[in-house]
Amino acid sequence: MLSDGNITLRRPRSSDAAEVAAGCQDPLIQQYTQVPVPYGIDDARVFIHSKVTDSGWWAEPTWFITDGADQWLGTVSLRPDGAGSAEIGYMVQAGHRGRGLATAAVRLVCTWALRQWGLEVITWRAVVGNDASAAVAKSVGFRIITPVLRLGIAGRDGRQDAWFADLTHSDLQRANSRRAGEWSAGLTARESQVLAAMADGSSNRAIASRLGISENTVKNHVRSILEKLQARSRTEAVAKGWNERLLEQP
Ligand SMILES: CC(C)(COP(=O)(O)OP(=O)(O)OC[C@H]1O[C@@H](n2cnc3c(N)ncnc32)[C@H](O)[C@@H]1OP(=O)(O)O)[C@@H](O)C(=O)NCCC(=O)NCCS
Repeated sequence: MLSDGNITLRRPRSSDAAEVAAGCQDPLIQQYTQVPVPYGIDDARVFIHSKVTDSGWWAEPTWFITDGADQWLGTVSLRPDGAGSAEIGYMVQAGHRGRGLATAAVRLVCTWALRQWGLEVITWRAVVGNDASAAVAKSVGFRIITPVLRLGIAGRDGRQDAWFADLTHSDLQRANSRRAGEWSAGLTARESQVLAAMADGSSNRAIASRLGISENTVKNHVRSILEKLQARSRTEAVAKGWNERLLEQP
């Protein structure tokens, strides 16, 4: 299970089948991914069933994107080549697009795969013209390589030209530092100190005494941090701080 405090990526469950089957009726999912067409509930059941066992899951690690309601909102999967590389694929339910779900989910999976699972490179291919997918890959840090791969993707209607991109650990780090620069510009130096103290679990009183300022001033800083990070709680602000690299790893 992977989470950034806003979304959770979890393993598929048999209770997700109806939601997945309904979501995969979407014309863009049918155009740009390899789902069978027509797609029925049995296709969803077979797919989910193939991920239930550990061996099935590790053969092609697959996460379902969920938020507080724990329902299927999308999928991210990796297809490993068994020699340090894997190709990533993703989709988001039509009604939930444009919320940053794919970008956040792909970032979580790539971070896990390159840092913890030990992949050396993650590759991405998309049918030429799939701008939304390319925007997600670019935001995460993938290096888009041109020219196109001629007939680089096999689809149900034959082969199509493809865009290709790759991501290494250093690409991911570069993209994260770029984002951290953009983000930290929004927090003052004092707010960054307060956020770091919040990450230790310190109370406002403890932060005030550590930084030599009044408890009321700390309260104002905390309020401003929550606003700037668009967080509803201290826990969420700290989670975003980790995710956005505003906080140093211990
Ligand atoms: C690609 C897909 C997963 C994106 O999901 P999403 O949750 O909407 O993605 P996000 O909200 O994280 O980001 C979408 C990005 O695409 C951009 N975008 C969306 N539609 C676009 C379009 N038609 N043209 C150009 N950019 C577009 C958004 O502006 C955003 O970019 P930004 O962050 O730079 O502003 C979703 O559109 C989808 O499921 N498509 C069908 C399946 C598919 O194509 N999968 C990928 C196969 S390689």
